[in-house]
Amino acid sequence: MLRVILVLVVALTQLCTAVYPDTLRVWMETGNGTLAGNYGTVMAEGVKNGKAFYGMVAMLAGPMNADFLCQNAGYAGYLSTGKHEYVDSEVRISSSYGESVGFSVREVTCPSSARSLDDCYFRVGKYPNTDFSDGLVLQCSDTPTDCTADYADSTLTVSLQTGQGVENGNIGSVVLSGHFGPNDISGMMHSWTDLTPDTLDFLCRAAGYTFGEYQYWTYDSGAPRLDKNYVDSMSYGFESLDCPAGAGNLCECTAVYISARNNWSNTFSKYYHMSLKCI
Ligand SMILES: *[C@@H]1O[C@H](CO)[C@@H](O)[C@H](O)[C@H]1NC(C)=O
Ligand SMILES: *[C@@H]1O[C@H](CO)[C@@H](O)[C@H](O)[C@H]1NC(C)=O
Repeated sequence: MLRVILVLVVALTQLCTAVYPDTLRVWMETGNGTLAGNYGTVMAEGVKNGKAFYGMVAMLAGPMNADFLCQNAGYAGYLSTGKHEYVDSEVRISSSYGESVGFSVREVTCPSSARSLDDCYFRVGKYPNTDFSDGLVLQCSDTPTDCTADYADSTLTVSLQTGQGVENGNIGSVVLSGHFGPNDISGMMHSWTDLTPDTLDFLCRAAGYTFGEYQYWTYDSGAPRLDKNYVDSMSYGFESLDCPAGAGNLCECTAVYISARNNWSNTFSKYYHMSLKCI
């Protein structure tokens, strides 16, 4: 009897999944709803647990999730993200259009290996206090972020700086320059999550040292950093980075998340750029 009930439950579950399969379609729009190609406000529509959704995607928890959304929109991965209302204003949708369309999904969380909706978690709808400026802006890339033979000459230079952009030897704010494949890298190091010790070592080797010993996150820590007013004029070079032990080249790293075109005029978020002590 128990077995029969179990079979029935399984059959019913499969039937429901067949009738209401979860779906997700992602694309980018600009202006008053014009299709935007690879750079614009991220829109999504689909069905989750039988409930349909349509509208803007609210801000994300990390770059893995941006990668997933870009792949869902038909691109190889993501290049940069805009997170604030005054960033990317020329590419995001208008506020009047945004307010009228509203939000579709939020809290999109995918593992870095996610290739389908089944691998991700997200909620349908918006936070009670979400406003238009929380709509996600992404620039997706046609170029894969992983290393290929074409990226063999990718270079990265790290300078540790304080004050008004003064080189400070083995300790200071991480300032990056170089390129990764066709993409230029220029600016500070942002980190959505703590970087691994191996990645800190990689950054320190790029700065001419051997090991990465500490990272400082806030001005309150008293660590030598770039001045607050100076970072206003800077962008981010990387959103995130993950390198294996002993990596000698950017090509050996995974999760190379470039932040190429952002104009981060939000000074507050720049206070959280990474600084480092190398030994
Ligand atoms: C969107 O449409 C409104 C009027 O409906 C107009 O005032 C506004 O300039 C438009 N914005 C863009 C970016 O096209
Ligand atoms: C960033 O945007 C601000 C405000 O729109 C503008 O004044 C500034 O010149 C921009 N900076 C860069 C580097 O584009």
